[in-house]
Amino acid sequence: MRLSGKTALVTGAASGIGAACATLFNTEGARVAGVDVNTDGLEALGDALDFAQSLDVRDKAAVDALVESVASAFGRIDILVNCAGITARHVPENTSWEDAWQQVMDVNVKGTLLITTAVMAIQRRDATGGAIVNMSSIYGQVARPPIITSPTDPYPHSKATVLQMTRDLAVSGAPDGIRVNALCPGFINTPLTAGLRENAELHAALISMHPVGRLGTPEEVARCALFLASNDASFVTGTSLAVDGGYLAI
Ligand SMILES: NC(=O)c1ccc[n+]([C@@H]2O[C@H](COP(=O)([O-])OP(=O)(O)OC[C@H]3O[C@@H](n4cnc5c(N)ncnc54)[C@H](O)[C@@H]3O)[C@@H](O)[C@H]2O)c1
Repeated sequence: MRLSGKTALVTGAASGIGAACATLFNTEGARVAGVDVNTDGLEALGDALDFAQSLDVRDKAAVDALVESVASAFGRIDILVNCAGITARHVPENTSWEDAWQQVMDVNVKGTLLITTAVMAIQRRDATGGAIVNMSSIYGQVARPPIITSPTDPYPHSKATVLQMTRDLAVSGAPDGIRVNALCPGFINTPLTAGLRENAELHAALISMHPVGRLGTPEEVARCALFLASNDASFVTGTSLAVDGGYLAI
């Protein structure tokens, strides 16, 4: 077991990649705390979670209190996986682009930064070191194709910012033994992409952008998060790993 004796906090744990990370990390011996705004999804994980609590990652006071609770329940927080995220498709249709942009940035960027700084403060206070895994995207690195985007689409802006935050946080965390890395998934079969996959023509077009000829699974992303979170990645920090079936290779 690769995470024996470790404690992990996973945001967005109720669904998709976060749920897969929580489940795999539990199987690998970690004690896992899962947080999400979707409490039904957390409950569905059952025994995979040692600690489950509703949390909106945009709420600084709630984030700070949650991180303190997890640290006192577990005695330490070794690993944080930031999976809470939304796209402009989650925002009501008649929302102005500026409001939609802000809402996506608030969850994907500010939420990630709030909980990461709170966890790193605990890791510094307790001198435990740690590993943070952020969820960026292929669209943190390349433009989205016009069939699924517009120039005001906040999603790629948010994911590129997550990559830069990853580098900055890694440099600041390195002297304290805290590693910070990111994953850049291609299209993964989760509720986040369900709306796109409902359209058969668009689904086929998305598949064709991945040289392996299919979309990914949340478990395939979770296994890469496990690598970055584990001691196998002890000399890896401030970087990103594409989990994209070759999307970025074209
Ligand atoms: N699915 C993909 O194709 C894909 C590709 C690249 C990157 N990602 C990223 O991976 C992460 C996980 O995506 P997923 O596909 O598993 O999506 P998902 O929709 O299945 O899960 C996201 C979870 O985040 C939670 N969440 C949303 N807003 C929140 C908030 N304010 N506070 C706390 N929790 C909140 C949701 O309730 C949900 O459970 C996201 O950051 C996403 O952008 C996904």
